[in-house]
Amino acid sequence: MRRSYTVHMFWICVCVLTITDLATGAAPKKPVAVPFGRNYMPTWAFDHIKYFNGGSEIQLLLDNYTGTGFQSKGHYLFGHFSMHIKMVPGDSAGTVTAFYLSSQNSEHDEIDFEFLGNRTGQPYILQTNVFTGGKGDREQRIYLWFDPTKAYHSYSVLWNMYQIVFFVDDIPIRTFKNSKDLGVKFPFNQPMKIYSSLWNADDWATRGGLEKTDWSKGPFVAHYKNFHIDGCESSVNAKFCATQGKQWWDQKEYQDLDAAQWRRLRWVRKKFTIYNYCTDRKRFPTMAPECKRDRDV
Ligand SMILES: *[C@@H]1O[C@H](CO)[C@@H](O)[C@H](O)[C@H]1NC(C)=O
Ligand SMILES: *[C@@H]1O[C@H](CO)[C@@H](O)[C@H](O)[C@H]1NC(C)=O
Repeated sequence: MRRSYTVHMFWICVCVLTITDLATGAAPKKPVAVPFGRNYMPTWAFDHIKYFNGGSEIQLLLDNYTGTGFQSKGHYLFGHFSMHIKMVPGDSAGTVTAFYLSSQNSEHDEIDFEFLGNRTGQPYILQTNVFTGGKGDREQRIYLWFDPTKAYHSYSVLWNMYQIVFFVDDIPIRTFKNSKDLGVKFPFNQPMKIYSSLWNADDWATRGGLEKTDWSKGPFVAHYKNFHIDGCESSVNAKFCATQGKQWWDQKEYQDLDAAQWRRLRWVRKKFTIYNYCTDRKRFPTMAPECKRDRDV
């Protein structure tokens, strides 16, 4: 009932938004389809990654023995990072498929997409989080307006000095504004790698850990393609990227969302948000300073 209504609403919105978008559109540049090996390499359990069409598509496998993961070869300061993923179909309860950027040091910066699987026919949750200077606790959770196991969808992060934007198929689902003026750290000087992995997290992922991974349904398989990276590559030691300020993602139209993008984000907020740390007064009696900007949505 709820699902068919929201799908219907989605198409109405897409039509309206497509028309109004024509004048202003500042969606990130379309990624180019490049094979896995150009930008990425396996991180662990190499034998649980399968390659197709010369590496233009890959599959990650999770079984009762291990999950697996991969990482970018380079480190990046700012840019647009995207991936096409088709999530584990069928009974995926207990599994988590993640796509994230991380500086992996003690006071780390991190930008996370985590897809929490579910029992057959039950909706995935997309959880996002942002760590700055080692501080996280900024979870937001949404349901998606489509079944992410049926087809490939694009998931991407735009990161510049002004904002971090999470996109699902070019629809912004979250922004994290640079709120340095409010005393909040913003990632700007620690290069990050891009990571993805599929693993078992049945102690927390599905209905808070109530639903366990059913290993008899394995192996669990997530599909990936389009391994394009559009970022400023830097060595781990470089404080700033030499080209900072000159790339397309630094330009005016990417420093804030445009009107159509704000409308889309509001639509996601209204229809699909199930958790936002900014409104969780039990957990955070004092609202995090950056939430002031989150509420401006
Ligand atoms: C799984 O399905 C249940 C029941 O529809 C729902 O409450 C839950 O939010 C869904 N997602 C996850 C990851 O638990
Ligand atoms: C893993 O699952 C397979 C198939 O269900 C089973 O035969 C095997 O014993 C399991 N291995 C472990 C370590 O649980």
